[in-house]
Parts: sequence; C-alpha cells; structure tokens
Amino acid sequence: MKRAKITIVGAGNVGATCAHWAAAKELGDIVLLDIPDRADLTRGKALDLLECAPIERFDVQITGTGDYAETANSDVVVITAGLPRKPGMSRDDLVNTNVKIVKAVSEQIAKYSPQAILVVVSNPLDAMVYTAWQVSGFPTQRVVGQAGCLDIARYRTFIALELGVSVEDIDALLMGGHGDDMVPLPRYTSVAGIPVTQLIKPDRLNAIIERAKVGGGELVKLMGTSAYYAPAAGTIQMVEAIIKDKKRILPCAAFCQKEYGVGGYYVGVPCVLGASGVERIIEVELNADERKMFETSVSHVKELCELTRKTLAG
Ligand code: NAI
Ligand code: 2OP
Repeated sequence: MKRAKITIVGAGNVGATCAHWAAAKELGDIVLLDIPDRADLTRGKALDLLECAPIERFDVQITGTGDYAETANSDVVVITAGLPRKPGMSRDDLVNTNVKIVKAVSEQIAKYSPQAILVVVSNPLDAMVYTAWQVSGFPTQRVVGQAGCLDIARYRTFIALELGVSVEDIDALLMGGHGDDMVPLPRYTSVAGIPVTQLIKPDRLNAIIERAKVGGGELVKLMGTSAYYAPAAGTIQMVEAIIKDKKRILPCAAFCQKEYGVGGYYVGVPCVLGASGVERIIEVELNADERKMFETSVSHVKELCELTRKTLAG
C-alpha cells in the first residue's frame, strides 16, 4: 500500500517537532519546507531526523526543501509558517505579518496539492485557518485548524497534576477561539467517568481553567518564544486521525455556518476527524453562561477575521 505524504510548511520549532512526532509514529513520508534562504537548514533538519530511523525504527522518507515542487500531491499539509509571539505580544499582534505568509503558502499548496487536507497551526489561529480556506479555495471540510488539541491537553495536564492521577483518565471538552477567552467546559469534564466537579472544588477548578486559558503565555514568558512540543503533538494527533481515518472526536477549529449559530467562521468545536477531514461537527448543549462565553470568544474571532480580510484585500 502507498505511504501517505505529509508536507509540513515552516521548519521552525513547531514544524520540525511535528516532523519528529509524525516520523516516530510512522504516519507517512514527510516533506519539510521552509523559505529558500533556509533550504540548507531545512535539509539538515530533515536528514538529522532521518538518521534517527535506525534507532527509533521508523521506515519513512524525510526530505527538507525550499521548493514546493517537492511537496506535490501531498495527502496532508500542515502549515506552521509564520512568526511566533515573543514576550509581551499577544497572538493577535502577529496577524499582519502572518496573514501574508499564510496566503503565500496556501497559494502554493493549492497549486501543487489540490486534493490535500490542510491543517493550519500559524497564529492567530482562527484567522489564519480562515485565510488558508479563502486563499486555497478548498472545501471547508478539507481545511482545519489546530488549537483545541493543545489547549485541552494543557487543561487535562493541570487536572491530572491537581488530582495526582493519570492524564489518560481525564476526558474534557473545550470550545471557542484560540485566545485567552477560549472556553473550557467543566460540565463536560470527567475523570474516569466521574464529573470533575465532584473531585475538585470550584475555586481550584477555576484556577486550573484560568491557567489553561493563558497556558500559551505562561510558556512564552518562560522560554522567550512560543511553545512547540505540545502544539506539535496536538497537530500530529489530528494528522494521525486523518491519515488513519480514525473518526476521532477532537476539538478543532472547523468552519461553522449554522452550527452553534456562528455564521461562517472557523472556531473551536468538537469534530469527527477522518480521511475526508472534518467529517462532522458535534453540537453539544450549552447553558446560558457557557453560550455567553462562547459568543464572546466567537466575536473576538470575527474581529480578527475582519482585520485579515482587510489585509488580504489591501
Ligand atoms: P519559528 O519561528 O520557530 O518557525 C516558523 C518558521 O516559518 C521559520 O522557520 C520561518 O522561516 C518559516 N517561514 C516564514 N515564512 C515562511 C514562508 N513564506 N514559507 C515557508 N516558511 C516560512 O516559529 P514556531 O514556534 O515554529 O511557530 C510557528 C507558528 O505557529 C507561529 O505563528 C506560532 O504563533 C504558531 N503556533 C500556533 C500554535 C497553535 O496551537 N495553533 C501553538 C504554537 C505556535
Ligand atoms: C500557544 O498556545 C502560542 O498558540 C501558542 O502556545
């Protein structure tokens, strides 16, 4: 059987780490692409990773390049190209630069891999996935954004640390945009089937939720740049669900028209991810408070998309 072809655009911290996780999981042949000025560095990263194969025992090809021709006919394309935030910056501060980068990348991907599924990671995420969808002209199901898998992993990690139990037993749901106003949902969080609200007192749970919301900022302060291990792991969780047609329910930035009354934007919602991309959006019941928080988050996403539209038009 033919191996899947995965292109990762942007061979920086997140992109190279995505390549690492994808190779370790033997998901397919990997092409790592960066700007032509960085082609040697990119080739070097790809070769270095390939040389792990005898030790880690994966049989995939890993190529580094600055030329889109080598990405042709990819099954999945991950877009991590763009600036990361530095201390003191919000994700939104990146919009003007990254929208131009994501536009240029999406044009090339649409040309060389017209059947690919795009998994967008560049920030501000909800606006960049919207940009990739608009520019590529791909159907909405084939363009999806990664943020929820990361945000929920942070939330689950903090709950497991609080309770001193395995992260594997924490099940959770999180919605909204990839901003500090994302919406973790304690009502839909359980620990081995036990509602989390029975195990953690409200003030502690609120502190965990607040920490998850600003989890990206916590790491920017510590590292001087944005996180990459967990972002890449979350991204490859999505790629794996697509390539293996797993039909996993994961929180992804998906295009919502009627769903949740969003009206045609990409926001974080629970999705069934499989070989066709976003195969279904699951609509869960939200109470009045949850809906209000979700709407606040969505209105922020809409503002960012307007800004993006203006930049694209200008
Ligand atoms: P980085 O600076 O380490 O890597 C970015 C790479 O993109 C660089 O190698 C750069 O040369 C490349 N690049 C720039 N313009 C390009 C173009 N036109 N074509 C191809 N490659 C190009 O940054 P890092 O840490 O890897 O972050 C990448 C992006 O991912 C940032 O926008 C960051 O904010 C975002 N991010 C998103 C997360 C999420 O959960 N959605 C989590 C973490 C980061
Ligand atoms: C994060 O949440 C910066 O979006 C990136 O770590």
